[in-house]
Amino acid sequence: MSQSDSAALIAGYPLKAHNTFGFDVRAQFACRIEHESQLLAAVRDPRVAGLPRLVLGGGSNVVLTRDFAGLALLVALRGRKLVREDDDAWYVEAAAGEPWHDFVAWTLAQGLPGLENLALIPGTVGAAPIQNIGAYGLEMGERFASLRAVELATGAVVELDAEACQFGYRDSFFKREGRDRFVIVSVTFRLPKVWTPRAGYADLARELAANGHAGAQPGAQAIFDAVVAVRRAKLPDPLVLGNAGSFFKNPVVDAAQSDALKLKEPDLVSYPQADGRVKLAAGWLIDRCGWKGRSMGAAAVHERQALVLVNRGGASGEDVLALAQAIQQDVLARFGVKLEAEPVCL
Ligand code: EPU
Repeated sequence: MSQSDSAALIAGYPLKAHNTFGFDVRAQFACRIEHESQLLAAVRDPRVAGLPRLVLGGGSNVVLTRDFAGLALLVALRGRKLVREDDDAWYVEAAAGEPWHDFVAWTLAQGLPGLENLALIPGTVGAAPIQNIGAYGLEMGERFASLRAVELATGAVVELDAEACQFGYRDSFFKREGRDRFVIVSVTFRLPKVWTPRAGYADLARELAANGHAGAQPGAQAIFDAVVAVRRAKLPDPLVLGNAGSFFKNPVVDAAQSDALKLKEPDLVSYPQADGRVKLAAGWLIDRCGWKGRSMGAAAVHERQALVLVNRGGASGEDVLALAQAIQQDVLARFGVKLEAEPVCL
């Protein structure tokens, strides 16, 4: 291995600033990746051969319960550009380490609408496809063209299209068969030239109406601004109060179970799905069990959105998982519904 190929590994690296819960854990080794060549050098470095790898972007979707005995890859690849256009769409590529929200703001500034509903989601571009981020009536998968990723085992660069990524609700190939196998290095989005607003989500429609957009069709910037306002009002800023956004997915149950629950709980918030099943608002279920605002030690349920667990200062990943388990038990006992964690728990 030549000198230029050897990776700049840092031993005993603190991850507190690399996970939005702010858990104070360390990685046995870490390597900051600013160029693809550094990624290849890091995964081939004999000092870390055989060790587990943890890919960290913004760290907004992980629960680190203990020190990580392996190599943390801190993805800091930057760059974004309009790569091509055809009659129907613009194609915009962003490197995996670009902060998601800044990227969305930049597309709008370039006159390329289409991602505005996903404003203010914490994390990086490279993390977006893994859980197929979504909010206020839009999922990233609807604007996705392809991505480039490095396969850890071989160092091969692969290009995956939407079909290969198998996007679902907060789900993709990278949470299943592809788990821990790839590092995403860039993502290309397809932004249709015929733009139509997605403004139907209740909280968003209310905010737009309050901003004077009740009758008229809102523009992309108005939607962006409204999403930012709604998120700021409901969701805690991870820089102020450690959290990983929604801690649980909204569970999807069959129609019979949903109907039975509705008889007992007429206020139950539910969304019929295309396949006949019904998605339930986990925040409502947790709230109904009385958990909103409650804490267990330094881990707590956010007081404005019961789906968000927070670190009030000094909590560990174990504390948050203990709180999550207590909530899961209550929701299962009361409603017969199993809540599944959204972030990756390590
Ligand atoms: N609700 C309550 N109590 C609560 C929280 C919610 O009764 O404490 C009710 C609300 O009144 C509303 C319903 O539950 O009727 C849904 O709440 P909300 O609109 O806040 O959305 P959500 O289903 O809780 C999902 C996403 C969020 C996303 C919003 C907006 C998931 C797991 N979460 O939350 O995504 O921002 O919709 O689209 O799908 C994230 O994934 O990290 C995230 C924040």
